[in-house]
Amino acid sequence: MRIILLGAPGAGKGTQAQFLMNKFGIPQISTGDMLRSAIKAGTEMGIAAKKVMDAGQLVSDDIIIGLVKERISQEDCANGFLLDGFPRTIPQADAMKEANIHVDYCIEFDVPDDVIVDRMGGRRVHPASGRVYHVQYNPPKVEGKDDVTGEELIIRDDDKEETVRSRLSVYHEQTKPLVHYYEQTAASGDCEYFKIDGTKAVEKVSAELEALLSK
Ligand code: AP5
Repeated sequence: MRIILLGAPGAGKGTQAQFLMNKFGIPQISTGDMLRSAIKAGTEMGIAAKKVMDAGQLVSDDIIIGLVKERISQEDCANGFLLDGFPRTIPQADAMKEANIHVDYCIEFDVPDDVIVDRMGGRRVHPASGRVYHVQYNPPKVEGKDDVTGEELIIRDDDKEETVRSRLSVYHEQTKPLVHYYEQTAASGDCEYFKIDGTKAVEKVSAELEALLSK
């Protein structure tokens, strides 16, 4: 099962990726998490990426495509994977096609911008696992702590309202065209395309995804 999760920043891709990963036993490939690991490790690429990410812009296609191809070639992706945050531009989607990386499903999370801005202010993350919480809509069992490890949750550097607004405008300009791209891919029979209402409660979105993908 090879799945693309498509949607604006904060639409719930990472939250549902954790659910799908556990449900279907396939790895989550989050380009955002990969970049944040590179930042933490202090690599040259990480240092360059941090400036771009803090400004709410996109990291160059070449870097991202290289990272994803390398990750997909690993053994744990043999039976499928979840792409979370990739592709994000038409050249990234084309690169996947050229590399013969076929996907079975493209799932779009539809959430209006004002809901996104509200959500991001309350997001808390556990960087080591990628688990995501919200202080109000998806709170951890113990305030400020990860449910599994008990470690401290953090606020992402790019969750400031100003940066979120830049990320949303980048989404509309550069990523939204992928909706049409994958609708056309689906029309030619090369994948299935589902659009889901990402404003519903987390568990309702999970249940809808499970129903769609279990068919
Ligand atoms: P990345 O880490 O991929 O961020 P993003 O796509 O902007 O997505 P987010 O992680 O912000 O949101 P999400 O949809 O996963 O939502 P979440 O589940 O956390 O990318 C960061 C940066 O890296 C980019 O800006 C770019 O610079 C760079 N980058 C990454 N990939 C790249 C690429 N391919 N090309 C170029 N550059 C790239 O949910 C958000 C909040 O809402 C949480 O608090 C959650 O608990 C809550 N929530 C989730 N679902 C619901 C719900 N149904 N109801 C209420 N609250 C909910």
